Amino acid sequence: MLDDGQARTYKCKGDVASLVDFVGQQQHEGTLAIGHTRWATHGEPSDLNAHPHTSMNGKVILVHNGIIENYKELKEKLTRRGYSFKTETDTEVLANLIEYIYIRGNIPLEMAVRLALTKVVGAYALCVYTPENAETLVIARLGSPLIIGVGKGEYFVASDATPISEYTQSVIMLNDGDMAVLQREGLQLKNTLNQTLKPEVQLIDWDVENVALGSYDHYMLKEIFEQPRSIEDTLRGRIDGQKGAITLGGLYSVMPRLVNARRLIIIACGTSWHAGLVGEYLIEDLARIPVEVEYASEFRYREPIIYPDDIVLAITQSGETADTLAAIKLAKSKGALPLAICNVVGSSISRETVAGVYTHAGPEIGVASTKAFTAQVAVLALLALKLGEQRGTISPEDFRDGVDEILSVPSKIGKILEKNEEVKHIAESMYEARNSLFLGRGYFFPVALEGALKLKEISYIHAEGYPAAEMKHGPIALIDENMPVIIVAGKDKSYEKVVSNVQEVKARKGRVIAIVTEGDELIREMADYCIEIPHASFVAETLLAIVPLQLLSYHVALLLGRNVDRPRNLAKSVTVE
Ligand code: AGP
Repeated sequence: MLDDGQARTYKCKGDVASLVDFVGQQQHEGTLAIGHTRWATHGEPSDLNAHPHTSMNGKVILVHNGIIENYKELKEKLTRRGYSFKTETDTEVLANLIEYIYIRGNIPLEMAVRLALTKVVGAYALCVYTPENAETLVIARLGSPLIIGVGKGEYFVASDATPISEYTQSVIMLNDGDMAVLQREGLQLKNTLNQTLKPEVQLIDWDVENVALGSYDHYMLKEIFEQPRSIEDTLRGRIDGQKGAITLGGLYSVMPRLVNARRLIIIACGTSWHAGLVGEYLIEDLARIPVEVEYASEFRYREPIIYPDDIVLAITQSGETADTLAAIKLAKSKGALPLAICNVVGSSISRETVAGVYTHAGPEIGVASTKAFTAQVAVLALLALKLGEQRGTISPEDFRDGVDEILSVPSKIGKILEKNEEVKHIAESMYEARNSLFLGRGYFFPVALEGALKLKEISYIHAEGYPAAEMKHGPIALIDENMPVIIVAGKDKSYEKVVSNVQEVKARKGRVIAIVTEGDELIREMADYCIEIPHASFVAETLLAIVPLQLLSYHVALLLGRNVDRPRNLAKSVTVE
């Protein structure tokens, strides 16, 4: 909305940089602006379907993150009342619905939005204004995240704190059902019942340097290289090398229940699910508590058996993943104790759970999760050791060794990062492949899964992660001279078996890239390429083994000219179901 009283809308398909090019050098002065990078649900990605959406008579302009599930029914009703639609989106239906109520009722926009939302089934984070009153922005949230940044004489509205942390560190987190009216004079926050709420301003501790690219070409590379520091941040105040002690303050109130747990259910999606698998192995090994790891999306849509004495632990970087949020709500409704390991302070999942651990990895901007994964695994290792100590399932000596192992991780990752050029060279050997296979056993199986996910999401090369021993039950049929097989083969108790797997792949002319423990001459003789990682016990080995795979994916994607930080079709926070 410009100072000349005119509203201008610019939309285009593609990323934000394309929009910047499209808008070009045109400079506008104004006080209110809204924008949204759309995740296509209804209607293909196109200029027309892009946000903002303007209602038929131009009285309402809005951006919307979420889904209007009953949009068809609403569209039919509005069509009967004379409305026509330019796009295929559900959001345009919402714009027209608000406008219809706004014009017919001759009421303030805030009231029209509130009434319209009572007719909507679905999820939304919404920013709405009318060109008739360019000094007022109405926002609302249900199911999709929304925060207000409070600056000096200005407000920012966003899905999370990352994009606005450059401008302000003071934020107000909206809860489901909340609405706010932002004006020059101040803001008014209300809940579902239209009761005025006192806004609670929180300070976020992310500094500008954390969200700046610095000397790196991409956020993903920056975040991979940040890992020695981010893991130190995760461990700070939680592990004491001198005393040999672990303190997880965020779980203090629930520690007795955790220590006596009959079972633990971990729910997560994507990379966080892989961290959950590492957690399962660690907690079962060290604390002997049965653990089930569930995809949040599957868990919530079947009839899971949840007992009131169950503990359900959500693992999530963003704290906003719709499926994980819904799964934790389901577990809570069945009486289970909801906990979280989460990176974003004050996020929806952290607020929905009664206790948990923040990973403190700092903002992760690259869509491909890297430092958030290692931070999650570091927390899970601390938790497993702590529970093992408290339950007496590990000896004091093993506990002490575990503490030392974890403390040595940052410097060991530093050593792996020195091999960046070597990994780049290996990437040149595989970037033209159409398919790839990632194999690992034991603790290296989740690493193989995560390595495959990293490669597929940013390079678009088909990558499958498999337990190495399962190869003979099917995937072996795929192996020929064109197939890179990435084998995570650290020296653990399955080492001999993995050596046999390497031989099996070579016998079928597959190209082997192996992640091995320093000094492993046996696999070096058989494999086409080897990347060495320092020795570590099972408590810490996954934290090391994933790093070369992150670098490998990065370099392969770069060689293919992919948009590493913003791969196609993906979003950083998946706030749709
Ligand atoms: C990881 O590289 C992906 N971007 C994705 O799998 C991600 O881990 C998943 O969407 C879960 O996100 P969350 O940790 O924020 O819940």
